[in-house]
Amino acid sequence: MSTLGQKVIYQLYPKSFYDSNHDGIGDLRGIIDKIDYLKKLHVDLIWFNPFYKSPLNDNGYDISNYKEIDPRFGTMADFEELVDKLGEAGIGVMLDMVLNHCSTEHEWFQKALAGDPYYQKFFYLRDPKPDGSLPTNWQSKFGGPAWAKFGDTGKYYLHLYDPTQADLDWHNPDVRHHLQDVVRFWEKKGVKGLRFDVLNVIGKDEHFVDSTNIEEEKALYTDTPIVHQFIKELNQATFGRDPEIVTVAEMSSTSIENSIEYTRPNDHEVDMVFSFHHLKVDYDHGEKWSQVPFDFMKLKRLFFDWQNKMDQGGGWQALFWNNHDQPWALTRFGDPVNYRVESGTMLATAIHLMRGTPYIYMGEEIGMIDPAYHSMADYVDVEAHNAYERLIQEGHSEQEAFAIVHSKARDNSRTPMHWDDSEYAGFSTVNPWLIPTDQRQINVENELAHGSIFNYYQRLIELRRTEQLISEGHFSPLLEDDDQVLAYERYLADQAERLLVLNNFYGTTTTVTLPDHWQGRAVHKLIANYEEEVTLFGDQVTLRPYESLVVKG
Ligand code: NOJ
Repeated sequence: MSTLGQKVIYQLYPKSFYDSNHDGIGDLRGIIDKIDYLKKLHVDLIWFNPFYKSPLNDNGYDISNYKEIDPRFGTMADFEELVDKLGEAGIGVMLDMVLNHCSTEHEWFQKALAGDPYYQKFFYLRDPKPDGSLPTNWQSKFGGPAWAKFGDTGKYYLHLYDPTQADLDWHNPDVRHHLQDVVRFWEKKGVKGLRFDVLNVIGKDEHFVDSTNIEEEKALYTDTPIVHQFIKELNQATFGRDPEIVTVAEMSSTSIENSIEYTRPNDHEVDMVFSFHHLKVDYDHGEKWSQVPFDFMKLKRLFFDWQNKMDQGGGWQALFWNNHDQPWALTRFGDPVNYRVESGTMLATAIHLMRGTPYIYMGEEIGMIDPAYHSMADYVDVEAHNAYERLIQEGHSEQEAFAIVHSKARDNSRTPMHWDDSEYAGFSTVNPWLIPTDQRQINVENELAHGSIFNYYQRLIELRRTEQLISEGHFSPLLEDDDQVLAYERYLADQAERLLVLNNFYGTTTTVTLPDHWQGRAVHKLIANYEEEVTLFGDQVTLRPYESLVVKG
């Protein structure tokens, strides 16, 4: 059995992977059809975005039945077959557990609405303020107020996300027991991994108060002390009983200190946190819906800070650039036009060799980029449409608002997987739910035949399995002031050998002076995205556009 540090996880967005029944939406049988492809990468686990019963208002993060598969994705028999067949291929299934909220179509919410007091206690129902205004001034993360009318009762229910995603009241032990039962249900089906959606917001204070700014507001419901208690209880009642199960908690604006506490093995909470600080370095003053170049030094400081402190504190983190909530990193931090292969492989190198568990989001391994959409009608996501409306209201022209949405929309990475260069990218035979673009150049068929990104990922995955420096090593930052190169070292307690990782983040050549202990050192190249042997270092190293060089010595 591989250790946590040796594993690599693939994230698969079922709605966009492969449509086997020709309805324009990906499905479980489609995934079964593509197992041979998945096997080639040799990942340990696949995290699947939700495919439970859902009205799909937030693409499945609005679950109306936790123990059923949505018919659009398939049946329970399909799921069981998927678990078996992936198991035979040596790949475990990691499921998405969306336990902070459920759909307002869920029977719990419906019964609550019908007046059942038992289920009314499942949700945060509150009276308006004496002046008739909402219980608090909190904002939903998708825009608009975080409270919606609870039928005609005069009360309001809390929804931190879409109004159709009602927050569950974890203070109620019955809620926690029902949710634990959900986790056990899937564990019994052979699931080997659990990804918990927005887990650090499950412990809202029961006394709701107004906030004066967004940071203060987040603090009122994020990382509160009781979250740790709830997670410990969940651990003991479910996955903690099976050492094989890998757990990851998505935690948007968490702190390093909390992340250490969430993941230190002796605290028995979760294996790792999945946080997004490094993906906010192209936000203008913290505002996602803006368009500014990414701040490399900020990115670097964040990586170094998290890597260092998590290492020192014994915490563990997920390493990733892409996911279903982010535009493609290659478009954002690389150069998809002139250096797609170089910048794609450089970005992969930069994070795969850090301390933590790497995630590859489907399509990343073939160098997918943001789609070339031309109108808001091409987008489906509620968040994108809300943002567009808000930008217009704030005075942006249609063109500006569109350009901003185009650069940040979550749909960017939700487009269908490009299997071949056909009209629907080999994803479907009918018009898909989101339109693919650029499949003429970027597709699996091309990549496997002539590309070099996919096999670069294969090598990175293999290296993590075989090199203890990568899977277990400590982290130390290098060249901290260099504004073009991200460099770091990994070393084991015996300090015998070290790994040096150099990544040029820009499309120009640059030369760096090596730290003393690497100057004149005999080295062995482990992986690089440019050909050329390196066996002996001088005092300096020159890196070509988006070059990554990894040596052991
Ligand atoms: C995080 C998920 O990744 C995102 O897609 C979803 O919209 C929110 N949580 C709400 O569940």
